[in-house]
Amino acid sequence: MSPSADFERMWSDLAPIGRSARSGGYFRQPLGSAERECHAWFVEQCEARGLWVETDPVGNTVGWWGYPERGGAKAVLCGSHLDSVLDGGAYDGPLGVVSGLAAVDALRERGFTPQRPIGVSAFVEEEGSRFGLACLGSRLATGAMPWEKAAELTDRDGVRFGEALSAAGLPPDPDHPDSGQPGWTELTDRIGCFVELHVEQGRDLVDRGAPVGVASAIWPHGRYRFEFSGQANHAGTTRMEDRRDPMLSYAMTVLAANKQARLAGQRATFGRVDVHPNGTNAVPSRVTAWLDARAESPQHLDELLAAVQRLASERADRDGTSLQVTAESVSGAVDFDPSLADRIAAHEDGDWPIIPTMAGHDAGIISEAGVPTAMLFVRNPTGVSHSPDEHAEMADCLAGVEALADTLERLAGS
Ligand code: GLV
Ligand code: MN
Ligand code: MN
Repeated sequence: MSPSADFERMWSDLAPIGRSARSGGYFRQPLGSAERECHAWFVEQCEARGLWVETDPVGNTVGWWGYPERGGAKAVLCGSHLDSVLDGGAYDGPLGVVSGLAAVDALRERGFTPQRPIGVSAFVEEEGSRFGLACLGSRLATGAMPWEKAAELTDRDGVRFGEALSAAGLPPDPDHPDSGQPGWTELTDRIGCFVELHVEQGRDLVDRGAPVGVASAIWPHGRYRFEFSGQANHAGTTRMEDRRDPMLSYAMTVLAANKQARLAGQRATFGRVDVHPNGTNAVPSRVTAWLDARAESPQHLDELLAAVQRLASERADRDGTSLQVTAESVSGAVDFDPSLADRIAAHEDGDWPIIPTMAGHDAGIISEAGVPTAMLFVRNPTGVSHSPDEHAEMADCLAGVEALADTLERLAGS
């Protein structure tokens, strides 16, 4: 089968898994049935190619072409993730995994023999859509997150990460002597570089007329839980001036965050809110909302958060409510290895553009762990992501596979 037919077949295999008939978007939350089905499919694809499959205690999985021995030649790792945000697009994550498998096929078709092992990876819970912490799998694999802390993270139903792993048949305790699995930091010890291919999540490549780009940097970003508490009361009998309504404090905070970020060219989003008790005819007692904030430098991010928090607290004082803010997930600024980016961008028909991104990725975590890391982006004509409208044309996906195969050939060749 040609590499393009092969890519198209894999893409259509994955297309129905976890897809909502209502919106056309994907619900592939980590360790849930749809994500596990994608994972099983990935293992099958690796085995069909004779790749050696290694799964760590939290389900991060790599298919190896040539096994990376400790102390041997360091491997070149590519891949991405298979989980999605709630009602997400088809491409964010799976494009990098499928392209990794297709790139292995393309290299074999070229008759290429790697001088160092090549791995295709699928990391767990990249989006943080279930346990709240973005890039949980790669943070654990690189030692950026201790297991004891991760095990206690809970999903919206109160299920702990450790319990969800057991329910999915994975060993909940990585240090358990019977787990038979590699240790947490072994992956980073054995890889010499990581390349994540990803759908672009904006319109930069569309504006530049380029099907493929290379990442220069990731903006620092974080998720902050804002808990506004007030007093539950009757919606009819409580005079407007007598209320302590946390919904008002929350509503003003959303507008203030949007204005702060807009004025400074940054990003602030409240995309998730939880209202208690969530009744139509009662003033709520509590509103919990999650701020996703991003800025071009850690200092700008701190300033943005401080401004939003100050405005929220002032409003809470006026409303007679109280506010507590907790940082749930913070990712620092990432500058990808510039020489690796230049090397990957070099292309016979004109170099691929090198562009920054405001989105978080496992590549950022792996780069932070000291592994030379790069990202390839594939043009997204809608510029829309984390949405059913996310898209990439097949021709651009295939250009991405070629670019990834060229990159792996350069990095794993002599
Ligand atoms: C991950 O996709 C993020 O940037 O939130
Ligand atoms: Mn992603
Ligand atoms: Mn994403």
